[in-house]
Amino acid sequence: MCRVYSWIFPSLSFGLIGVTWLMAQDANYDEALVPKYELPDPLVTIKGDRVTTTEQWQQVRRPELLRLFEEQMYGRAPGVPSQLHWEIFDEDRKALDGLAVRKQVRIYFGPGKAGPKMDLLMWLPNQATERVPFFLGLNFVGNHGTSSDPAVRITDSWMRDDPKAGVVQNRATEESRGRDQESWPVLDILARGYGVGTIYYGDIDPDFDDQFHNGVHQLYHGPGQPRPTPEEWGSIATWAWGLSRALDYLESDPDVDGKRVAVVGHSRLGKTAMWAGAVDDRFALVISNNSGCGGAALSRRQVGETVKRINTSFPHWFCDNFQQYNGREEHLPIDQHQLVALVAPRPVLITSAEEDRWADPRGEFLAAYHATPVYRLFGKEGLTDDEMPPLGQLTGGQVAYFIRSGEHAMTPVDWRAYLDFADRTMKYKP
Ligand code: GCU
Repeated sequence: MCRVYSWIFPSLSFGLIGVTWLMAQDANYDEALVPKYELPDPLVTIKGDRVTTTEQWQQVRRPELLRLFEEQMYGRAPGVPSQLHWEIFDEDRKALDGLAVRKQVRIYFGPGKAGPKMDLLMWLPNQATERVPFFLGLNFVGNHGTSSDPAVRITDSWMRDDPKAGVVQNRATEESRGRDQESWPVLDILARGYGVGTIYYGDIDPDFDDQFHNGVHQLYHGPGQPRPTPEEWGSIATWAWGLSRALDYLESDPDVDGKRVAVVGHSRLGKTAMWAGAVDDRFALVISNNSGCGGAALSRRQVGETVKRINTSFPHWFCDNFQQYNGREEHLPIDQHQLVALVAPRPVLITSAEEDRWADPRGEFLAAYHATPVYRLFGKEGLTDDEMPPLGQLTGGQVAYFIRSGEHAMTPVDWRAYLDFADRTMKYKP
């Protein structure tokens, strides 16, 4: 069992893992069996007009693509809640042996303090003389799971049971502290001059199908409307919405440059980072790691996980309209290269792992490749060759791709690629 699965679903020896494993057995991994497909052109409007100017992209094509992704796939999320507020409940300017500033911010989505909320854990280089560029991403293990610092508050949100890793009765305990530090190499990030912040994704919406009663949905789906309509937010859109609310806070933080915030995520949270970066153009840079089906991988290839499989295993991730494409990928009015293109002209990096076949690395690469024409419209370069680059080599321009050896995970090697890309595209002010 690969490492990341073993910490996401560790005690489920035959729960979701089992289902995923069984499905993976009859998944296609053979390039020769990829169905013939034609990708929808990102630069042709629904009416059939060719997009030749950036104005046409921004005013016509981008809005119509966004609407299609919203209505057919992820679901539409509400705007900024009027009652959004926050409280910085912890600040230590000499954390991590004096190398870092640590802040913890509780962000409340509704009025008062009783309703849904999320905790943002932030690390900043303490030598910074000006506002720093910043990486923001959701985590699977609770903020306290990303660091061994005993001051990091343990989440009180629902978590999948995992007694061996210190999660009992769906609550994290002290024992689960620091269980996934490898995905968050904070000191490496700070040493390169960036800040980094993370939020437990279950604070925003617990990751199980409860018909949208818990998490932030309880603020929106009361007795009159018990669940989202078929074109309203599934969990991925909800987590992405939470990232935008964290950005609302970050824009007000005097240590952070709110105009240089990168959104980053792994796996289902890589799908989430992709969607957050597509919808919210305040994110200056988008990084999507091993995001696979429903993330960067082209749906029409049907390699590894397919639309039917993802909708069956995780019916709450997408909006209900997406179900109509189960086994009918060729009828999708969109494909994932257009999702990547929605980030244009901002920088975007798609990253894969060689052994992560369930996520279809070649499909992830091709989405970045086929997004390139939209970047060219803006005079920016992307990927020029449809052959995948060698392992370990960051390739491309403003839309870029990186694949390393190894399995499905977010590792310090991936972070080096993110930092190199961010140095080139976001770090230095023009
Ligand atoms: C499952 C799922 C993927 C997802 C992954 C994860 O494998 O099928 O779509 O990316 O879980 O988030 O860990």
